[in-house]
Amino acid sequence: MSEIIIKKAERQDVPEIAEIERKSIPEPWSEAAFAAALSDEKAVTLAAFSDSVLCGFITGVYLLDTADIYSVAVSEEYREKGVGKRLLEEFFSALPNDVQAVNLEVRESNFPAINLYKKFGFEAVGLRKDFYREPRENAVLMTKILC
Ligand SMILES: CC(C)(COP(=O)(O)OP(=O)(O)OC[C@H]1O[C@@H](n2cnc3c(N)ncnc32)[C@H](O)[C@@H]1OP(=O)(O)O)[C@@H](O)C(=O)NCCC(=O)NCCS
Repeated sequence: MSEIIIKKAERQDVPEIAEIERKSIPEPWSEAAFAAALSDEKAVTLAAFSDSVLCGFITGVYLLDTADIYSVAVSEEYREKGVGKRLLEEFFSALPNDVQAVNLEVRESNFPAINLYKKFGFEAVGLRKDFYREPRENAVLMTKILC
């Protein structure tokens, strides 16, 4: 695979980001939701490119000392090649120094994502019963404390 380049996502990237999300996540965000995130100055939305093809993204938000990751996804044909790792690394680099903790929720059965987050030092800190609807499933709450 060619070199992966991670950039701040722009308005023109939204349709491709939303398409990857639709194909990857059972209850996807709409294009409008991604567009709103791009215009939020406290949000960080990054896109991964391989040979100019948008192959993954991450989006999250920070407020004072805490950040939340809302979504991260990689196109199926680009998975297990290190794109997810690069997106998380760059997400952490983009956060202001004030941020001390990063939180997220993940489906209990989503082992690829849970493994990825554990690799970055996230720990399971709680469970939200039936948090997801379609299909119904518990969410694992994970937190990473930044040094
Ligand atoms: C989760 C996801 C983003 C990982 O992206 P990726 O580019 O495939 O991940 P990477 O290649 O960077 O792998 C990083 C680590 O994730 C874990 N991982 C990735 N795919 C995995 C799999 N199929 N099974 C188990 N662990 C996996 C491993 O720990 C891996 O580290 P390793 O390569 O040293 O073993 C990707 O599987 C995806 O888009 N899934 C669908 C969307 C989704 O579920 N997003 C999370 C919502 S909370």
